[in-house]
Amino acid sequence: MRQPLVAGNWKMNGSKADAADLVNGIKAGAGNIRKAEVALCPPFPYLPIVENLLAGSSIRWGSQDVSSETDGAFTGQVSARMIHEFGCTYAIIGHSERRMFNAESDATIAKKYQQALAVGLTPILCVGESLEEREHGKTEEVVARHLDAVLEGIGAEAIGSGVIAYEPVWAIGTGVTATPEQAQEVHAFLRQRIAAKSQAHADAVRILYGGSMKPGNAMELIGQGDIDGGLIGGAALKASDFLAICAAAE
Ligand code: G3P
Repeated sequence: MRQPLVAGNWKMNGSKADAADLVNGIKAGAGNIRKAEVALCPPFPYLPIVENLLAGSSIRWGSQDVSSETDGAFTGQVSARMIHEFGCTYAIIGHSERRMFNAESDATIAKKYQQALAVGLTPILCVGESLEEREHGKTEEVVARHLDAVLEGIGAEAIGSGVIAYEPVWAIGTGVTATPEQAQEVHAFLRQRIAAKSQAHADAVRILYGGSMKPGNAMELIGQGDIDGGLIGGAALKASDFLAICAAAE
């Protein structure tokens, strides 16, 4: 009953020409994707290119971040309203690379989530533990803290209006993927935690897996009961790989 979502997070990769080639390649092969929803999240400056090429198609697009502020003297930041002007449906919020390299706290991430919701964007909230945290048995504690920033801080309805992406940090860009069982366990834990507040929102919210998802492992991962699609990094930069993952979600 939950429509699978496969979203590509291009991170800080490519050029204007690469962005257009990638969109055109994905568009050309997307005719066979009927069940899954597909979304592309390019770097900010390429949003107009993606918007122009995808307008009128069934493929959606989004940003990789939004500012926690509405507008004003915040040099270098991009507001949710500005992103929304470029036809975005989604905004990735709280990616581990932003938590790590931009020192984003749970409080800041909750503000960003709220900014996205306020303008009608669907936030994709990233949660996930580091290798050290997993090895110390802290996976549930960490993902619960990431989730609770929004679930407790804003409410179950806000979670129900968004998407969650479980991205174990140790699996991102490493080629090491969580096993389907490891991922399913965390997805089920997240859904149960939401269910404790609202069964309806827990049943409705899509929880994506991210971390070295590839054509070869996508079907088994997405086949798990609580895994509703993928947030794809490296494999989203090659149209054929990305399309193969979308096909695996069919
Ligand atoms: O947001 C997507 C992500 O962090 C996973 O990246 O390269 O491991 O697929 P990758």
